[in-house]
Order: sequence, then structure tokens, then C-alpha cells
Amino acid sequence: MIRLQAALPERYTSATPDELAAMIATARQALGERVLVLGHHYQRDEVMRWADARGDSFALSRTAAERRDAEFVVFCGVHFMAESADILTGEHQQVVLPDLNAGCSMADMADLDAVEEAWDVLATVTDVERVVPVTYMNSSAALKAFVGRNGGVVCTSSNARAVLTWAVGDRRGSDGTPRGDQVLFFPDQHLGRNTGYQLGFGADDMAVWDPRLARGGLDDATLKAATLLLWKGHCSVHQRFRPEHVAAFREEHPGALVVVHPECAHDVVEVADLVGSTDFIIKAVAEAPPGSVVGVATEIHLVDRLAGETPDKIVRSIDPLVCPCSTMYRIDAAHLAWVLDGLVEGEVRNRIAVDEETAHWARVALERMLATV
Ligand code: 13P
Ligand code: SF4
Repeated sequence: MIRLQAALPERYTSATPDELAAMIATARQALGERVLVLGHHYQRDEVMRWADARGDSFALSRTAAERRDAEFVVFCGVHFMAESADILTGEHQQVVLPDLNAGCSMADMADLDAVEEAWDVLATVTDVERVVPVTYMNSSAALKAFVGRNGGVVCTSSNARAVLTWAVGDRRGSDGTPRGDQVLFFPDQHLGRNTGYQLGFGADDMAVWDPRLARGGLDDATLKAATLLLWKGHCSVHQRFRPEHVAAFREEHPGALVVVHPECAHDVVEVADLVGSTDFIIKAVAEAPPGSVVGVATEIHLVDRLAGETPDKIVRSIDPLVCPCSTMYRIDAAHLAWVLDGLVEGEVRNRIAVDEETAHWARVALERMLATV
């Protein structure tokens, strides 16, 4: 998806880190309680230090919704997160993303046209009334609205298990009648697959829908039989982690605890000790006994922050060559200073506003998630 971020004025691009910090402090002081700055766990420290609240994608949207007094919400994260915040906040609140090019490559792997095409194909072979569309939080507002309109639901990495249980049941035993017989899960195949295995489904119950191939690359019998149809999308940051990294880390640190994000491939999850969302990883590190060595498979800024804030434990990425999330990294002190200065001057720069029709149905899907978990 193309989003055009204008180049910043030189005043920001040539400023030193101290000068930028002074600009941000001055603007924040002038704006007071009118502005709420939110920081996702993957943000750089130069941005995170200004956050009024830190959190995972969903927790931050909720914080935005709870802080009704804040006129402006500056979301230091990526585009889909700012959209979710706009959907959940009041009409009098405006959400700002400091750099419009801070997207999410995984979210961009599924768009509305491609998902509608998949839905139409499914309707030719199966009863779509019994197919539940489930979108990961990491998706555009348009896709959240699609699932809202079609009886589906949003999930996050921390509640995917409860959401899929609601949708198609838990093979390991669950109360209640599932909402449908099949799920179309997008855009992250890994979160879908890892959660499917947690619920007792096997490889035979899952099929991968490849949006670049005609009819997803699947024959009609497979489309009809698969309980979980997994969109062929992934996170390029988390897909880098391999089981060999886990093995090498354990060899270097015998007895280490290995905690991975569910966006990692299933062969990595299988050999890890624990799997969970960014908030879960933070709790796992906090609960590890002093002196522990914890190997983590997630974005490097969170891992390094945990290492710095937990001096009584050794916290490391399991991949020594790990790359940061390049889109999260686009938010820097210069862009934060630029949008805050705009607000002081009465100009809302980089507002993220979801149209009312899309917001309505996306809200339905988000509220269904809240009622489910
Ligand atoms: P969380 O929902 O755990 O914050 O994860 C978001 C994300 O983008 C992970 O790559
Ligand atoms: Fe998207 Fe991956 Fe970056 Fe998360 S880490 S925002 S899923 S590209």
C-alpha cells in the first residue's frame, strides 16, 4: 500500500537528538492533557521515552478509547494500530501517526479485493454462512469491516485461541456451540496455524490460501474439507527466526528459557518453551527467576528494552543477526516533534481517519472479539 509521507522541514532533519528532545518537551508542555502519546513495544527508545502509555496493539487502542479527555492521540506504532485507535475513540478525538509510511508489511499482504475474491470462490464450493472470517488485528480497517459484515471477528496474538474456539470449537474439548464449520484466517498464516495446533487441529485440517494463485491454489475438495483456511501472509521480522537459532541459543546457554511470538513459524514454536504476544513475553521475562537467561524471538527493540530494564536476568534475541521492524522504525523523534509542533500551531498533521461506514463494521468485529474473550 502506498502512503506518501512528506519530507520533514530541515529544522527537524538537521536537529541533534538533544534539540529534538527539547522541541518535544516544549510541545508536550504546551499541549498538556490535550495530547496522549502512545508507544507500541517495538518503538525506539528515543520515541518510547515520551509515551504516556506503552502496550501491545490492542491494549493501546483501548487506552486511547478510555482517555476521552485527550483531544489528540499521537500513535507511535504502525498504520493499522492508528486506524484501530480511531475506530475505538470518540468523535471529538483525532488520531495522528507521526510517519504515514509506517505501515505493516504483513497487514499489506491481504487487501479487501483479494479477500472478497477468496470469499466469492468459497461461496461456489461451500456454505459461506458456515465460514467465519477471522482477521488478525494486523490488518486494514477495511478488512476488519469485512469480517464485521460477514459474521466474523478480529483477534490479537493474545486472544487468538479464544477467538478460534468461538469460531470453530476446540478439539481438546470446549463448551458451547461453535459459530461455524470453517474459518478463513488472514493475513498471518503462522498465527492461524500455531493456534490451530493449540486447539488440537492437525495439518490435515488446515490448508494455505495463496492469494497470488487462481482459487488460492486449492482444489474444491480441499476448500470444502479444511477447517482452517490460512491466508499466505507472514511477518518478515518473525519469519526470520528458525529452529536452529533456538538450538544454538540453548547450546550457548544451557537451561535458558526460550519465549517466542506466535508470528514465528510452527517449527520454531514447537521447540520453544513458551509462546505468546508481546505482553505475554514481557510477563514471562518478569516472572523468570533472577539469574535466568531468557532467549526471545520477537522484534529487537522490545528485546533490548527488556534486557536493559531487567538487569538481574540475561535477556537476548535468539537470532544474533535479527533485523528491526523497518516500518515501526520509521517513527523517530524528528517525526514526533513535527506532529506535536503542528498540534501546538493548530494544524493536525498526518491524521488517520477511518470513514464512518468502515468504522461501524470494524467496530462490530472488534466488539465481537471483546464479547468472545
Ligand atoms: P502485538 O499485538 O503483540 O503488539 O503484536 C503486534 C505486532 O505487530 C507483532 O509483530
Ligand atoms: Fe508488521 Fe511484523 Fe512489523 Fe509487527 S513486526 S508491525 S507484524 S511487519
